[in-house]
Amino acid sequence: MSRSKIKSILDHQATDYPASVKGWVRSFRNNQFIALNDGSCQANLQVVIGLETDESIVKRITAGAAIAAHGNIVASLGKGQRVELKADSIEILGDCDGEQYPLQLKNRPSLEYLREIAHLRFRTNTFSAVFRVRHALAFAIHQFFNERGFVYLHTPVITASDAEGAGEMFRVTTLPFDGTPRNEQGAVAFSEDFFGRATNLTVSGQLEAELGAMALGEVYTFGPTFRAENSNTARHLAEFWMIEPEVAFADIHDNMNLAEDFVRYLIRYALEHCTEDLNFLAQRLADEEKNKPQQERSGMGLLEKLTSVAENSFERITYTEAIGILLASPAFKKKKFQYEVKWGIDLQSEHERYLVEKHFGKPVIVRDYPKEIKAFYMRQNEDGKTVAAMDILAPGIGEIVGGSQREERLDKLSQRMEEMHVPHEELYWYLDTRRFGTAPHAGFGLGFERMVQFVTGMGNIRDVIPFPRTPKNAEF
Ligand code: 4AD
Ligand code: MG
Repeated sequence: MSRSKIKSILDHQATDYPASVKGWVRSFRNNQFIALNDGSCQANLQVVIGLETDESIVKRITAGAAIAAHGNIVASLGKGQRVELKADSIEILGDCDGEQYPLQLKNRPSLEYLREIAHLRFRTNTFSAVFRVRHALAFAIHQFFNERGFVYLHTPVITASDAEGAGEMFRVTTLPFDGTPRNEQGAVAFSEDFFGRATNLTVSGQLEAELGAMALGEVYTFGPTFRAENSNTARHLAEFWMIEPEVAFADIHDNMNLAEDFVRYLIRYALEHCTEDLNFLAQRLADEEKNKPQQERSGMGLLEKLTSVAENSFERITYTEAIGILLASPAFKKKKFQYEVKWGIDLQSEHERYLVEKHFGKPVIVRDYPKEIKAFYMRQNEDGKTVAAMDILAPGIGEIVGGSQREERLDKLSQRMEEMHVPHEELYWYLDTRRFGTAPHAGFGLGFERMVQFVTGMGNIRDVIPFPRTPKNAEF
């Protein structure tokens, strides 16, 4: 008999039919009741084994073991489940050494501990929920753009350019570390490297996406990005996934509209398609909140927060207004901010959180930032001081989206590149789009893991990517 997924058995109203299931034992009690999980959903299927089951098999049914069970789906007499599998036979597919199995623990293991056994943490309710939600969001992203006629563009992972100009790149090379070839000036001879030049892992697919948008009109990328920034925070990864749409004939306002629609669409999608997992994660978060001191608790539950973000429009303010709000805030007057507040600063996490969580109580889109703190490609505003940049700040996360209208005017772009020491010869191909039929365009980047954090309520970004890459950590 072919294998049924537990989800389809539990979703089904029918009873009294034969079925075979395969999965991993979550628990086994009274030598009779197996809670079986196959990853297709959060709920376990109760498998009831017959009293005549061979002793040698019963002994091997331990938490973590992989088994197959064959029998009949019947209405359950016990509490807690509508149906159960009355097993005629059990096959042990893979034994699990109970002495060594780290998830045997009776107490709920901490997230920190589970990070150390990330190869096994998928087997917990929390992580299977997180990764099913992550999958659903990835799917919804493609659906969102496909519905709107965007072309999915695969931009390169290996590149010679530094799109963000922040110099936080991982080098890609096949040159030897001992006896590295040198040129006449004594510098590393990258001409002898694999690509005949210095290359690195991409920090963003944006520049290449812009090239695509200048012909295909509306494109998006969705791929891994790499940043060698030494940030050991709950919001930073050295390898993360980013979604970067790029739209021709769009300005900063079109860009904000698209980004807001996109974020709210993803949340609605998760609320509609991940109900069971989100209910579980909401409960997990509520339990976690109970252990926090009163003043650190957030008033809203996860589902309330998501519903509220999905249903209400975001606040939109300029950077200058944001600084004004911060300077007028009780927090500023009581010297509660650790970092300085004045026009020109890069907003720190404490400032972003104040605006979003305390002042507005909803996501905020901040636009028109000082040009000094933003990348070379952003369109310069008439005031000569700001650029048409926009960031979306989300409660509990801070910056979740960063984007801008792009500088499409060749003279302005060249001038800004010079001022910021971005070499023209390395980006001639980028400048070419401004020579050959340039057009206004705009785009943004959504940090996928930050989005997954927001939707799942997970506090640490390392817990929403299967195998996190952070400074001094590339295990698994
Ligand atoms: O603001 P960023 O640096 O913008 C760009 O890379 C632009 N090229 C995007 C564009 O306009 N096409 O990054 C965009 C988003 C941030 O808002 C954040 O959500 C996420 O990427 N992000 C990170 N996520 C995890 N770990 C990191 N180290 C991240 N750095 C940025
Ligand atoms: Mg940014």
